[in-house]
Amino acid sequence: MSSTSEAGWGSRIGLVLAMAGNSVGLGNFLRFPAQAIDNGGGAFIIPYLVCFLLMGIPLLFVEWSMGRFGGRYGYHSTPFIFQSFHKAPYWKYFGVFGIFTNLAVATFYCYLESWALSWAYYSVTGEFTGMNQQEVKQFFTDYIALGTNQPIIFWLICLVINTYILSRGLSGGVEKVAKIGMPLLLLFGIILAVSGITIQAGNSGAINDGIVGLNYLWTPDFSSIWNFDVWVAAAGQIFFTLSLGMGSIHCYASYVKSKDDIALNSMSAGWMNGFVEIVLGSAIIIPIAIGYLGIPMVEEMTSGGSGLGIGFAVLPSLFSNWGAFGIVAGVMWFGLLFFAGITSSLAMGTPVMAFMEDHFSWKRVPAALLFGVMILLFGIPCVLSQDAFNEFDYWAGTVALVIFALIEIILFAWVFGMDKGWKEINLGADIKVPMIFKFIIKYVSPLFLLIVFIGGAPAIWENATKDSSFYGILARILLLFLFIFISIFVYIASKKIKSEKL
Ligand code: TRP
Repeated sequence: MSSTSEAGWGSRIGLVLAMAGNSVGLGNFLRFPAQAIDNGGGAFIIPYLVCFLLMGIPLLFVEWSMGRFGGRYGYHSTPFIFQSFHKAPYWKYFGVFGIFTNLAVATFYCYLESWALSWAYYSVTGEFTGMNQQEVKQFFTDYIALGTNQPIIFWLICLVINTYILSRGLSGGVEKVAKIGMPLLLLFGIILAVSGITIQAGNSGAINDGIVGLNYLWTPDFSSIWNFDVWVAAAGQIFFTLSLGMGSIHCYASYVKSKDDIALNSMSAGWMNGFVEIVLGSAIIIPIAIGYLGIPMVEEMTSGGSGLGIGFAVLPSLFSNWGAFGIVAGVMWFGLLFFAGITSSLAMGTPVMAFMEDHFSWKRVPAALLFGVMILLFGIPCVLSQDAFNEFDYWAGTVALVIFALIEIILFAWVFGMDKGWKEINLGADIKVPMIFKFIIKYVSPLFLLIVFIGGAPAIWENATKDSSFYGILARILLLFLFIFISIFVYIASKKIKSEKL
């Protein structure tokens, strides 16, 4: 194959940290707590955990083994990874999703990442010191309305950092960043979680103990299992947080050596993400915000389930109650968000690069530049308009994941066949995967996905046909154009492969 054949991971710990970095993202610290509150706190947790076990874990096994399998044939992005599982010509076009989603999500994700970078910078320079809640909120509003040039500057810096790291390759770039970023993130997260949980009512302005927020989240409300919307939200969160249904796990796994373990590695990365989300993600913004503001106000602020408002527009003012430690807390919080973000956006870049390297013999540096430029161009509408941002998030960050996951699990468990699939999962395995997963992967997960998809279809249709602003419509057209554009490249690549074989 091309220049990528010698690319690969430097060490096992590097691989697991990079994979965990791929999963651990803004989703763990902002989206998860906000989704949980938006869906009634304790009502969210049961569907969430069930989705983790019946869909998250099985799909991790599937995606890791699909990736390693494709890598054996020299393929590192999903169109031709899919094709290596079955030769029918249409599979590779389903695989287009695995490039499309990464590009589309990276456009708004890198912009959010740049917010974290700039907020970390403002925390260091003391910009928020002494600001009350109203002032921080105003600062945030002005920032996203592009009142100054700074949002653009930080965004460009972020794009350059991403492009640079990607251009250094997997072991020389991505893996190094994960090895530094992940431990720091864990350290900051643990310190902030302890600070959040130990808030005392009556001290430095808190009206509730930190425990009130935790109880709100962790007191299970069993009635929710009859609420379909909560299930859809829980499933959506599991996809987003584990980076499932996106093609980025396939790509990372395709660089695993063909007989190296994937069973234990996938579980290590997956459970590390679970720990960061369930333990740290629920112990920072929820107890702090509820501690200072109370449950009703926090419920109002998280409606919609994004958590960006609390994370950026509220937390800095709450930190100021902590005096000098508040400044440190601000730096840690936004530093943590930045590390969480960048280790994820790097994972979004690799499938795009791998596709160009595998099929068009591009070198790493131009491939990284291509990614950077595409994110810049497609990111412009997201920077200019919240509507565009929401469309990208909805179509690429929510709907596409479910469709792609449904397709891949059918391909793996039914077309390729679950007996062969099970052998693949267990090949080189350092743990014994419980047999029950063979059954779950074949029957339970696909059925689950199908129900989520069919149940969600009316809402999808409604969103597709609803009117929007100029930028909202533009975003939909751009997404469609992007999908077609990638499909054409896949077509050209398949012609090249055919002619090389002749
Ligand atoms: N899992 C990441 C988070 O929780 C998001 C993410 C990582 C992602 N890689 C992705 C989203 C690829 C879409 C596509 O924030």
